[in-house]
Amino acid sequence: MKRIGVLTSGGDAPGMNAAIRAVVRSAIFNGVEVYGIKRGYTGLLAKDYAEMSLRSVGDIIHRGGTILRTARSEEFKTKEGVEKALKNIEELGIEGLVVIGGDGSFRGALELAKRGVPVIGIPGTIDNDIPCTDYTIGFDTAVNTVVEAVNKIRDTATSHERTFIIEVMGRESGYIALYSGLACGAETILIPEKPYTMKDLCDKIMNGYKRGKLHSIIILAEGAGNAYEVRDKIKEITGLESRIIVLGHLQRGGTPTAFDRIVASKMGGKAVELLLEGISGKMVGWVKGEIVVVDLEKVFSTKKPFDDELYELANVLAI
Ligand code: F6P
Repeated sequence: MKRIGVLTSGGDAPGMNAAIRAVVRSAIFNGVEVYGIKRGYTGLLAKDYAEMSLRSVGDIIHRGGTILRTARSEEFKTKEGVEKALKNIEELGIEGLVVIGGDGSFRGALELAKRGVPVIGIPGTIDNDIPCTDYTIGFDTAVNTVVEAVNKIRDTATSHERTFIIEVMGRESGYIALYSGLACGAETILIPEKPYTMKDLCDKIMNGYKRGKLHSIIILAEGAGNAYEVRDKIKEITGLESRIIVLGHLQRGGTPTAFDRIVASKMGGKAVELLLEGISGKMVGWVKGEIVVVDLEKVFSTKKPFDDELYELANVLAI
């Protein structure tokens, strides 16, 4: 193997740069050239790539975002797009590709693998919503960003004895809400995986105040309801005024935590090792604190189990 490519695709995540660095340096260490493909599959179609050197990935391990940039390519989802990508891959002489991204990015990766391109996926998304891996790069940083924000909100929430609704990311996944909610000691965690009624929510808030709580912090995953509607319903049922904070894309930025850098480095190194062994169509995952290798096909046919125990614990501790 003489030359491989690396790209980041979909929503960026802190730690992607550490993964890029690991891919580039592991490959060069093994005598393999690396091409960085800009803006994910968009750059692959537009032939926007450049050779990377040991120095081109210097000074990036601590930086959020992705130096390769990222995008969600509509063109690549078409038959013509895939054909064009295959042609460009052949023209560039890439004999292996590392795709860092979420499940949308992996669908493209699997398509290329089926067409004979050796491809390895690295899970990078703050949502931690990819099956067959306990962890996706960026999750720890995002959770810590939420925790820092909620620490500040608690001060003012307590002073005013107020209810706050804090909306966090995770379109179809409650992982950020669950982990940050537990870490913040939130009174309520609302997530898409656990349906709730407004009556139960309001009872919980009011019971908390009756027990002497000085505030009520509600962590709402974006996929679990509209923060403004929740606020209005709380007002209608209880008469309480609550405040809303939408943390939004703030959660996607920032310097990656040590954990994200370490997992990203291990995954990047493993991805190159697999390509050198002639392995393709796999995702490098993280299960019970160890690197694992999973078929990309399996990733799409598996549903990520929800951590019910952690959810129960968070509820018990929020009493
Ligand atoms: O990266 C995943 C994610 O952050 C989701 O939680 C969120 O819904 C989505 O991306 C928003 O993405 P964008 O605004 O970049 O389209």
